[in-house]
Amino acid sequence: MAVEYITSRNMVNLIQETLRLINKPMEQHCIRVSYIMSKMLETRGSYEKYELADWMVLAMLHDVGAFKTDDVRMQLTFETKNPLPHSVYGYLFLKYLSPLEEQSKMILYHHMDYSKTKDMDYRYRYEMEVLKVAEIMDIWQRAFKEKFDYTLINKYAGTKFDPEVCSLLADTVEEHDIFTKLNDLSYKQEYDDSLEYVLLSDDEKEKYLKMLMYCTGLKDEQMVSETVATVYVCRELGRKLKLSEYDKNEVYYAALLHDIGMLALPTELLQAPRNLNDEEKNLIKTHVELMEKTLENKLSKEIIKVAAAHHERFDGSGYPRGLKGSRMGSKEAILQISEQVVNTMEPKPYRAARTRQEIIDDLNNGIISGKYDAIVADTFLKNYDEIMDKAAQKAETALVTHQKLLRNYNQVYKSLV
Ligand SMILES: [Fe+2]
Ligand SMILES: [Fe+2]
Ligand SMILES: [Fe+2]
Repeated sequence: MAVEYITSRNMVNLIQETLRLINKPMEQHCIRVSYIMSKMLETRGSYEKYELADWMVLAMLHDVGAFKTDDVRMQLTFETKNPLPHSVYGYLFLKYLSPLEEQSKMILYHHMDYSKTKDMDYRYRYEMEVLKVAEIMDIWQRAFKEKFDYTLINKYAGTKFDPEVCSLLADTVEEHDIFTKLNDLSYKQEYDDSLEYVLLSDDEKEKYLKMLMYCTGLKDEQMVSETVATVYVCRELGRKLKLSEYDKNEVYYAALLHDIGMLALPTELLQAPRNLNDEEKNLIKTHVELMEKTLENKLSKEIIKVAAAHHERFDGSGYPRGLKGSRMGSKEAILQISEQVVNTMEPKPYRAARTRQEIIDDLNNGIISGKYDAIVADTFLKNYDEIMDKAAQKAETALVTHQKLLRNYNQVYKSLV
């Protein structure tokens, strides 16, 4: 169903911009590695343009685990000294939470020496060797600056890197002059043009949109469970309100992505075990505009409008715009109320979870004061237990794969040290 909501090209841009929210230098590294890898494969000559574009998306995500496991500001340290945590996490992230399950093993081994991987029976072993070289080239080019010399790689041909891939790199430099283009930034245009060939199925788009929601877990695991709960409460409430399938889907995507702006905020702030001061609260509030900017021109205006209003209230007391009810509809109301209920249900480091009665009182008070849309809040109240039970069941099922990731991390890690 996602096809009508986002194009393939916009989906890829959205992934890129979401990574940028978390850490721009890291995102830039991922894009350069993606460029180098695609040019190398292009030089090899046996790939169609759309296949190259698929590899670009994979390479764009090659370090996704680093956003979770490491201080992303210390790229050189984890890429060169202790690459295992981000390799394991990135592998599991792509395996369970993206449409790239088949290719995910490449990420697990993307820092492992060729001497250990050369006999591996793996369909994408060659592309994995290319990714390794592309990755190290970008790291060396950044580290050595003017002294950078890509032929240094030949010193490691046969030990760290695949000799065939080392000579492919030499051919690529000769044919495409990639390092000059990376230096003068002219690669960007070329990179953008090649992304035009990405063609995602409906199912892949759907999975990528969910993956972006799971990205919030790179910062704070609780955000994932809360977002999933919000999504399903919205679904059940939308059903009770007899929303059309189309409207329900718009609320669904808005709910899925409503908090991705949080990715740009410091983790210490998101997990602060105390009440925040005014300055910190204002910083948190920027997550709405950050999300809006990220989604802009990629998803429909209506989805963005609903997502951007999740902290607005019908009496004008919300943020960031202080919109009143006359400017909003039931879709906005569904997300606002669902998000608020889910949020207060969860215990926070600075306060206990609210009881069922307290939540019901809040809904009632919100109707009286005009804070909530009366019809939506009233429908919620009338069906409270049914909505919450059904949503909890569905959320639990949806979170199983996410838990698998967390559970398997230690096991995979230990098997490789
Ligand atoms: Fe990397
Ligand atoms: Fe890496
Ligand atoms: Fe929010």
